[in-house]
Amino acid sequence: MKIAVVGGGSTYTPELVDGLARMRGTLEVSELVLIDPAAGRLADIGPLGRRMFAREGHPGAVTWTTELEAGLAGAQFVLIQLRIGGQAARLSDETFPLACGCVGQETTGAGGLAKALRTVPEVLRIAAKARELAAPGAWLVDFTNPVGIVTRALLDAGHRAVGLCNVAIGFQRAIAAGLGVPAHRISLDHVGLNHLSWERSVRLDGTDILPSLLAEHGALIERQTKLPIELIRRLGVIPSYYLRYYYQHDPVVAELLESVPRATQVAEVERELLARYADSTLDTKPEELRRRGGAFYSEAAVELLAALHGDTGEVRTVNLRNHGLFPTLPGEAVIEVPARVTASGPVAVPTAPPDPLYAGLVTHVAAYEELAVEAALHGGRERVFRALLAHPLVGQAHLADRLTDDLLAANRDHLAWA
Ligand code: G6P
Ligand code: MN
Repeated sequence: MKIAVVGGGSTYTPELVDGLARMRGTLEVSELVLIDPAAGRLADIGPLGRRMFAREGHPGAVTWTTELEAGLAGAQFVLIQLRIGGQAARLSDETFPLACGCVGQETTGAGGLAKALRTVPEVLRIAAKARELAAPGAWLVDFTNPVGIVTRALLDAGHRAVGLCNVAIGFQRAIAAGLGVPAHRISLDHVGLNHLSWERSVRLDGTDILPSLLAEHGALIERQTKLPIELIRRLGVIPSYYLRYYYQHDPVVAELLESVPRATQVAEVERELLARYADSTLDTKPEELRRRGGAFYSEAAVELLAALHGDTGEVRTVNLRNHGLFPTLPGEAVIEVPARVTASGPVAVPTAPPDPLYAGLVTHVAAYEELAVEAALHGGRERVFRALLAHPLVGQAHLADRLTDDLLAANRDHLAWA
């Protein structure tokens, strides 16, 4: 099987290669092709990937190319993991909203909208090429943020696409490690949207242990959520750490105004990683990669691909159409829930609708995401304004107007229509 990785020059790629190499018994790969316009990065990351496969005795070939068309040809899976504008654009997303007293974050609020506007047209262009050149029935797996919005745009355009994030698998692995049990014995009732999700049960061998986790493993839960355990106990569900941008919006803005932006920190980590990758004796994933947020994303990817390819019907948490699962959302909205995955794609596991404690937020952000897709597809200042006005972290007209101006000014080079 051929896997194509669009954005294969990402500093995250050795994480993915590591997962494919370690889990070679789960997924048979004959060729892994890394596609990226950055030839210099490919020249280091490609050979590193090759050495990593060789070290693990993986028989598959690792190749690389700057030509999208050549890379996509015949691929059965196309993984999309790109960042338009690199860390410089992310730095802008993380900072321009702060001047309005709004959270600055790469996927949440106005920064997330900026990223969506830059990203959706490019991902759709790649997906159209994949439809033409990849193997018939190929799957697109999107890690590119904002995953909910990008996945919705791909599905609206008729692509065979699944959105994937590491938040759910990160929780599952952290809880398993904390309890000292193998990860497969832990399953989550994960509910919500991408980067707007809650764990409403944590099952160990099928029995819900959430109450005892909250009572006895406060430190573990606080580490995962970056929220105080007292609050989580009152909620009775475990929010993802992206909920701190909502539940603690103002204190987080104050903290962000004082701290080094994540984009600046990541740019530094990336410089170190790229220097490590250039070392031709390196044949494993370097330790420094742990300083990135993408832990376990490779395992999530391998598990998903194995279920799609092997038609296993295993349950994986993915981004897919709502199709009536949450009654307050349109059928076309993209949600993030556990789904049974077969060769014909993921189908959400039947589950109760979200509790009123967070159903409003889910509905509100899903409506924003619909307007964000509209703005990304058709452009125009008014569409950007409408998406921002509809976002629960913006909401006021004067803020939406100012953020629209600032967003457009900062992203002119990346938006064909602006
Ligand atoms: C988590 C999120 C990803 C996000 C990443 C950021 O893994 O699920 O969607 O891209 O964090 O990590 P970084 O190291 O770039 O801050
Ligand atoms: Mn994510």
